[in-house]
Amino acid sequence: MFLTREEEAILAGERGEGARTAMELLVALGDIYEAKRLVPIASAHLSGVSYKTIGEGGIGFLESLAKDAKVCVPTTLNPAGMDRQRWREMGISPRFADRQQHIIECYGRLGVNTDCSCTPYLGTNIPRRGQTLAWAESSALSYANSVVGARTNREGGPGALAAAIIGRTPEYGLHLSENRLPSVVVEVELDQVDYSLLGHAAGSAIGSRIPYFRGIRPTGDQLKTLAAAMAAAGSVALFHVEGVTPEADPQAVKGLERIRLGKADMEAARNKLETGKDPELIALGCPHLSVDEIRDLASKLKGKKRRGDAEVWFCTSRCTASKCPRELEVLSSFGQVVCDTCMIVTPIEERFKVTATNSGKACCYLPNLCSQKVVYRSTDGLLEMIS
Ligand code: F3S
Repeated sequence: MFLTREEEAILAGERGEGARTAMELLVALGDIYEAKRLVPIASAHLSGVSYKTIGEGGIGFLESLAKDAKVCVPTTLNPAGMDRQRWREMGISPRFADRQQHIIECYGRLGVNTDCSCTPYLGTNIPRRGQTLAWAESSALSYANSVVGARTNREGGPGALAAAIIGRTPEYGLHLSENRLPSVVVEVELDQVDYSLLGHAAGSAIGSRIPYFRGIRPTGDQLKTLAAAMAAAGSVALFHVEGVTPEADPQAVKGLERIRLGKADMEAARNKLETGKDPELIALGCPHLSVDEIRDLASKLKGKKRRGDAEVWFCTSRCTASKCPRELEVLSSFGQVVCDTCMIVTPIEERFKVTATNSGKACCYLPNLCSQKVVYRSTDGLLEMIS
């Protein structure tokens, strides 16, 4: 990969050890993927925040970078392993809380915005069409690519952090226009679409290919759900929806393979996801709930009585929570409003064995990352369990 004189100097350590480490990482990535050069980024979003997922090894890496490095573009963080204010109510141990706070402090020293959320595009880090980004978090980067029309690869946490420190990323993959074209047409034949099930069925069928959807008209929140489920069931980092997403070009689909998804595929997806019954935890907000979703939940629950004894979590970002305090008060009589974290990256396995969710992404991760049996329900189905 070609490096400018300035980039060579960073690699030689002239901007300190942290920047040198970051540049080494970018050069290694660039060489692996045969990038020709580094290109400037407008922002970064980092995964690798929860103590449950990065442990002491991750802390060591962050501490060494935080000695003398700083990010030089707007950079945000994925959910951490606990609600930073109400971790005791979540049953988090003091030791876990201490190590988690330390991780967030390290990111803070690096200059990162520490509002921990997987929906930065809803408030703290809003990308624009055509911008080059280095985003980790599979659901967020797919949303940025597909719904916004910004450009990012499916970064890992260290690669995104290195890019944030240098302000550049290797130019390969989805940064190049020719790699953003659809490779398979997905024709949806459904009267009513459950976007978690559709995302799961589509992701399982297409893997990492770029789908071009026909037959759906999703809202912004439904696109968020679809992006997350496809990123988890497959490894989709970019998708197009005819008439909806900015880069969907009907001319680009000629001659492509076509897949049809209908009712039977949704039933098959549901059966695959559902592995348990009698949930001990009912969790909504994967990806983090938006203001509109919180308003919708509050309007459906207002005036109703709480029933059942499963614990209930509504996961969102602190930024979103600050915009709808009255609605959150309604939700609070049905469960806990959990900020900064989610049902996957906090150690729920220490307290629960069966979790119910409406998220296609959470359904994929709950068994392996949290040792949970899973109950899948639509949002309305979950609300019926608690009201
Ligand atoms: Fe977000 Fe956690 Fe789901 S990070 S996308 S709520 S698994």
